[in-house]
Amino acid sequence: MIKKGIILAGGNGSRVGPSTKAISKQLIPLADKPIIFYSLSILMLLNIKDILIIVKKEDLSNYKKLLGNGKDFGIKINYAIQDKPRGLPEAFIIGKKFIKNNNVALILGDNFFHGQGLIELLNNKLVNFESGANIFSYNVRNPSAYGVIEQNKKKIKIIEKPKKTNSTKVITGLYFFDKNVSKLSSKLKKSKRGELEIIDLIKIYLKKNKLTITELGRGSAWLDTGTSKDILKAGNYIEIIEERQNQKIACIEEISFRKKWINRKLLNRRINFYGKSEYTSYLTGILKE
Ligand code: TTP
Repeated sequence: MIKKGIILAGGNGSRVGPSTKAISKQLIPLADKPIIFYSLSILMLLNIKDILIIVKKEDLSNYKKLLGNGKDFGIKINYAIQDKPRGLPEAFIIGKKFIKNNNVALILGDNFFHGQGLIELLNNKLVNFESGANIFSYNVRNPSAYGVIEQNKKKIKIIEKPKKTNSTKVITGLYFFDKNVSKLSSKLKKSKRGELEIIDLIKIYLKKNKLTITELGRGSAWLDTGTSKDILKAGNYIEIIEERQNQKIACIEEISFRKKWINRKLLNRRINFYGKSEYTSYLTGILKE
């Protein structure tokens, strides 16, 4: 079982420049809501209510303005600072006190997951998670941009951004780790690019035979928001589905309200807080149901 989650929302977001000179990438809109709503909603849909958001110091006040301590949408949000992007495993070093002796889920604040049956699949893994690590793979056209999983009969190899590979299976930005993750992360050495590498952490679990790889099928979407073009493309995907179904993806207040984590009063408070927008009209519609 996993009850704690970390959202890593630091980074320079340099590929989304110049906007990211003044604003954290994960606060930029993707369709009609900030990018971080999508990763946050995944944790919420998995019933993770105890969440640590790791941000850059200069962005902290903006995140607090938007999300506060999470109470208004039924969860508990703590914040921590990563002053420089020193790599993904640093989340577990920064989050050591938050994690304590628990298993933990990490999701990258710029990742987008969506699809029929996806939450059920993830939830099943999460509820039954005891120890080790569970990562999630996805097939892409351009594997060289990611951590790649090469599987040869029973032998698994994990390679960071290989120039050449026969595999199209890459590691997505959602990870489940057991309580040893902070200790293991603090023993990692920096790579050539000067970062702690999540791949090195995953390899430790692989070596111990403690790694589970779960494939997200072709009915799921895992999209990138690494560049402005990616944000536009993902935004179009979201817009098409939301418009067609008249239902929103990653509306955190809706998730919370439907899970009965908040009452009508709190939902209304959130509506007033946001002020007039299409997102708010949607929330008002839910209130009237
Ligand atoms: P990246 O895409 O590796 O980095 P970035 O978002 O800073 O973008 P760029 O390469 O264009 O500068 O990061 C993936 C996600 O993880 C993103 O949400 C930022 C976050 N991240 C951190 O919070 N801290 C880190 O040390 C790293 C490496 C990433």
